[in-house]
Amino acid sequence: MKIGIIGCGRIAQERHIPEYAAHPGAELFGYYDFVASRAEEMAKQYGGRAFTSVEELLECAEIDAVSVCTANNAHAQTTIAALRAGKHVLCEKPMATSMEECEAMAAEARRSGKVLMIAQNQRFMSEHVKAKELLALGVIGRILTFRTCFGHSGPDHWSVDRGTGNWFFDKRQSVFGCMADLGIHKTDLIQFLLDSEVEKVKAMTDTLDKCYADGSRVDVEDNAVCLFRLKNGVIGTMTASWTYYGEEENGTVLYGTDGSMKIRDGSVEVCLQSGDRVLYRMPPRSSSGVIDAFLDCLICGGAVPVSGERVLSAMRAVFAALDAAKEK
Ligand SMILES: NC(=O)c1ccc[n+]([C@@H]2O[C@H](COP(=O)([O-])OP(=O)(O)OC[C@H]3O[C@@H](n4cnc5c(N)ncnc54)[C@H](O)[C@@H]3O)[C@@H](O)[C@H]2O)c1
Repeated sequence: MKIGIIGCGRIAQERHIPEYAAHPGAELFGYYDFVASRAEEMAKQYGGRAFTSVEELLECAEIDAVSVCTANNAHAQTTIAALRAGKHVLCEKPMATSMEECEAMAAEARRSGKVLMIAQNQRFMSEHVKAKELLALGVIGRILTFRTCFGHSGPDHWSVDRGTGNWFFDKRQSVFGCMADLGIHKTDLIQFLLDSEVEKVKAMTDTLDKCYADGSRVDVEDNAVCLFRLKNGVIGTMTASWTYYGEEENGTVLYGTDGSMKIRDGSVEVCLQSGDRVLYRMPPRSSSGVIDAFLDCLICGGAVPVSGERVLSAMRAVFAALDAAKEK
């Protein structure tokens, strides 16, 4: 599979490009970024060549599949153009910036017959795979409630362009803040773990701390707290934050009729009402699993691991949470 990378920033450099490079079935063929030197640097380091426009890359007949790793506002248009050009697409989360865009992407994937996968990498983390397996066995009984949380110090500390001058804080490019950046991960995860969909949402979002260089607050939310009711009757909280300075929080606790399950830091701990406890420590993974799953699907066939279609309900919940917060 000859691969094109569109957007050569941090996630492309840390995850997509090295994981394609490590896969025997993939060849990195082309790169495009607004910042030409980033695409050129990747070509120099990993082989292949830099393209001067996204159109030029998509017209290249040799490229079979692309990773879309741009700012959020370009996900839909780039993905749809790539599918129309006959490429398979792995698109970063959040899938897109409106429900209409998300539905158009899923429709184009159906029409083109090409693979559209969304990089919801939380589904592939070994502790989540283990938790899903344990939940299927009913180890903590019927699930009643949950709390799930993803917070870190924000993309001003993550992006290739450090500080709040980057696209994450420019509402025209990002469209939303931590809710769609981190909230989509845990919204999709909770639906995946509990095999259900968010049915009702209440939410509060705010910009509590992040400021532009002139001292004014950024235009996107840096904190979001949501209440979810799922179709299966389970209720819980989902928290996303860009202001957890010091230590990242990336965990989920599920409470069932027979006990609880704590999922965090590569482990799953089951605590039963009987007093019994079991701690499962998962061996660290060298890759996200996302790129391997995408390539395996392209090479071996079978169901798309996380198709665009399957992410629609989580995106609907994210948009509903943002609306709920706005409408108070
Ligand atoms: N799955 C995850 O856990 C995860 C983690 C981080 C980021 N992401 C997602 O990946 C995407 C990229 O984020 P990042 O962290 O790499 O950001 P980044 O700021 O580090 O890099 C973005 C790069 O894309 C380029 N770019 C932006 N819009 C472009 C466009 N329309 N065409 C060409 N190049 C463009 C920028 O010049 C920059 O080099 C975002 O959608 C983000 O939400 C996902």
